[in-house]
Amino acid sequence: MKGVLRSRFFAAFAAVFFIFVIVSAASAATIKVPSEYKSVQAAIDHAVAGDTVLVAPGNYTGDLVLKENIVLQGAGAGTTTITGTGGGSVIEGARGAVIEGFTITGSGRKGTIGVTMDAAVSGNNAPMTIANNRITGNNTGIKLYYSPSNVINNEITVSVSYGIYLLYSDSLVENNIITKSGSHGIYNSYSNPEIINNTLAGNFTGIFSEISRVIVKNNIVADNTVGGIRWAEFLGGQYRAEPVLSYNLVWGNGENYINVEPGKGDVSKDPLFEDLKKGDYHLKNGSPAAKAGEGGTDMGAFGGQYAQASLPASPKEKSFAKLSLKERLETLKEPDYMTQTDWRKDAVAYGKGDFQGHCVPCHGPQGRGDGLLADTLDVRPRDLSDKAIMSTRTDDMLFKVIKNGGASMGFSESMMSFNIQFNDKEIMNVIQYIRAEICKCEYEGVK
Ligand code: HEC
Repeated sequence: MKGVLRSRFFAAFAAVFFIFVIVSAASAATIKVPSEYKSVQAAIDHAVAGDTVLVAPGNYTGDLVLKENIVLQGAGAGTTTITGTGGGSVIEGARGAVIEGFTITGSGRKGTIGVTMDAAVSGNNAPMTIANNRITGNNTGIKLYYSPSNVINNEITVSVSYGIYLLYSDSLVENNIITKSGSHGIYNSYSNPEIINNTLAGNFTGIFSEISRVIVKNNIVADNTVGGIRWAEFLGGQYRAEPVLSYNLVWGNGENYINVEPGKGDVSKDPLFEDLKKGDYHLKNGSPAAKAGEGGTDMGAFGGQYAQASLPASPKEKSFAKLSLKERLETLKEPDYMTQTDWRKDAVAYGKGDFQGHCVPCHGPQGRGDGLLADTLDVRPRDLSDKAIMSTRTDDMLFKVIKNGGASMGFSESMMSFNIQFNDKEIMNVIQYIRAEICKCEYEGVK
């Protein structure tokens, strides 16, 4: 009951927040680049919430930092290009911002996991709408961290790492074409996204998920090197990874399904793309994906509710959109914050997920120091349920042991460092889980 009340309250708050945004947008200004400000960043710096920064056709260089609730609007992908400096993410997003109508390229090459990874569009606590862009030649296309967002009608191609990387970001990922990612086309961790009507081809894996409750519907996942749709395997069993698959065409991948079963309406047949080699993902006559999606729509990026003229027929075609700027914006939904999970409130649950995934082999499922590997180590793993010991440890001490390894605090090297696997927040989640459910204890000082 309490939970229901709280979420109702949150919904009411969010509704008021959006009315505010819509009302303030009515008196919003349009700031033009390059006629009013030469650089895009200068225009952003002069914008206030509700304003649109309208960028004329042309090439613009430099990394951008957005502001909350502004619309960054290009003249169309292929027409207005933003090229990053190669020293980080190209666009650092902001809460409530819209990024629409650009080619975005040239992010730095740093990072393959976590929040610090370079991307064309990076969201850190920044729910956004990212639509009608061509995102090409970056480390990762779109990286979202605590940023439930709308990602609609983009073409994301030639990414060194991921096409779309979602960490703690329940997002709507709809009608995108995601190809040629060195790693996963879409990666989900601690995220409950809806992945609908996308076309994923020529990636390492199409869709990869762990610790996430993912809806995967009406997609075409074809010709990906290693796997089509893959769910992670954890030693402690799948934790909160509940795939809901339906009406996907999954075909011609290294392995079509890994650790996950085909869903209702899934088919595995050659989708008959117009021209796979040239990157034209329209469906030929007689394609088994035609009208085979839920409700009789086409599967893939050219079917479903956001199917529109705005995706390019082929990489050669210059402009995405036949629609006006206003029409393009009108087709977009506000991110639905009301139904988003507040992952930060669920630290213990997600700490548990990480504990199961990484600590159980040594510390055992209840943390008693009796995991499968316990006998093979030089010292026995600490019994983390031992209240007498654990109540003499500050959170800071535990943090250092987990982040930097046992040796950093005078313990055995067998307690390895988790600096690469976890960010600081995730380590804190694990500590909260140990406190809440393993030792059931807090720091009480050294007696
Ligand atoms: C490869 C085996 C191994 C893995 C995996 C492992 N540990 Fe350990 N851990 C140990 C050993 C061995 C010790 C005891 C070190 C000693 O007493 O010198 C230890 C000690 C600890 C301690 C005790 C520090 C203290 O103050 O007494 C903590 C906390 C801890 N581990 C947490 C974790 C967490 C959290 C994970 C998972 C993220 C993890 N460990 C994964 C082997 C492991």
